[in-house]
Order: sequence, then C-alpha cells, then structure tokens
Amino acid sequence: MRKPIIIGNWKMNKTVKEAVEFIEKVDGHVHDKATFGVATSFLALDASLKAAKNLVISAQNCHYETSGAFTGEVSVEMLEELGVKYVIVGHSERREMFGDCDCSVNKKVLKLLSKGVTPIFCIGETEAQFDANETEAVIRSQVSKGLKDVQDVTKVVIAYEPIWAIGTGKSATKEIANTCCGIVRDEVSKLFGAEAAEKVLIQYGGSVKPENIEEYMAEEHIDGALIGGASLQAESFISIIEKVK
Ligand code: 13P
Repeated sequence: MRKPIIIGNWKMNKTVKEAVEFIEKVDGHVHDKATFGVATSFLALDASLKAAKNLVISAQNCHYETSGAFTGEVSVEMLEELGVKYVIVGHSERREMFGDCDCSVNKKVLKLLSKGVTPIFCIGETEAQFDANETEAVIRSQVSKGLKDVQDVTKVVIAYEPIWAIGTGKSATKEIANTCCGIVRDEVSKLFGAEAAEKVLIQYGGSVKPENIEEYMAEEHIDGALIGGASLQAESFISIIEKVK
C-alpha cells in the first residue's frame, strides 16, 4: 500500500509571519490517511518547522555542493541542520527560469538521498511537446536522466507536472494524469525493477484544487498531489485535506 503525499508548493509566496499563521490554522486538520505538507521559502523554513506538528515542511530547491562560492544558494547540509526532510527539485519554473536541467537536478537528487532527505523530483512536458505527442518520450527521458545512479528509488517522490497545466487553471484530465503517472511508473520499473516501481510515490501537479483532488486520488497511478495556487489559502488547503480522508 502506498501512503499518498500531498504537498502545497507555495513558490515565492508568504512571509515568515504568513507561513506561521497558515500552519497554525491548518496543522490540526491533518490526518493519517496521507502525508500532508507545505514547501515554504527558505526564510520561512525554520519558523514553519517549529510551528508544524503534523504538516511536513519542505524546501523548494537546494544546491548539490556542500559549501563554497555559490552566491545565493543553499546547501542540503544547511537544510538538514534545520530538520528539513523534503526538498522539491527540478520544478519546471526552475528549469525554465533558473537554468536547472536534468544533469543538475540529478546531482541534487543524489545529494539529498546521501543525506537522508527526500527529493520531490519534478518532471513534465511543455504544451508544445504535448501537442507534438512527445509527452511519453519526454517523461521517460527526464525520469532516466534525473534518477541516474539512484540506489533506492523508493526514497524519492516523483511529481509529474505537465507545464501546460501549471497555474493555468487548465488541469490535465484524470485519464491523462493517470496515463502519464503510469508511464513514470513503467520507466521506474524498467530502470529499478517492478518491486520498486510498485512502491514509489508519484504525484500529479497542475491546477489541483478542492473540486478535483478526489478524482485524481482515485486513479491507480496517482499517489498524491503537488499543489500551487490552491495551497495558498488555509481554507482551500483544509478542504483538500478533508477530501483525502
Ligand atoms: P498550480 O497548482 O498553481 O497549477 O501549480 C502547480 C505547481 O506548480 C505545483 O508545484
């Protein structure tokens, strides 16, 4: 049995005070049918970890080096010291705007695993690739390159987020989302074996909200969600938590 995982990706939203206020409102609603959490800014991690009893707190990025001349970057060791247990890597916004690529994302995944921190490893195709029927090839390539040299893939959470569904209100149908998460699982099976593929958690992300979370969660290959916009309001996130019961 795979225990689902639902993470709100706040992106560049919420001050430290706003993060703590949100956590104080939401934390008591968490139940054990799934793992629930939020990915805050680096600045809000410490206060959020202290405020959260039930929500898991994730970072949104990290560097793969331990220390050095990397202005503006944050190492896994720095996150580990705070008690961070999850880090999003390879989000399409970082790939598109900040130069992250399969190779650097792979280094981040390996570094996180070496420190016992769970990578939430994001993949997904652009609208042009979707329209050109390249989705399957893109997904398989991102999975195999991003997870190269991983020893235990069950320690990674994979988030399939079609770029055309992120922040657009245009969510993938549950059939498309399930098919694509199934392709991810099949690629994991080819690379790491059927037993690992059966265990690995695969999230769908892209315009998930209280109105559609249940239909995604009912699908065979979808083990949770990575949620942007609908994770920013406490009421909306509480509603999602209630619907996953
Ligand atoms: P939205 O839920 O706002 O579409 O964002 C999805 C996302 O990018 C989560 O990482």
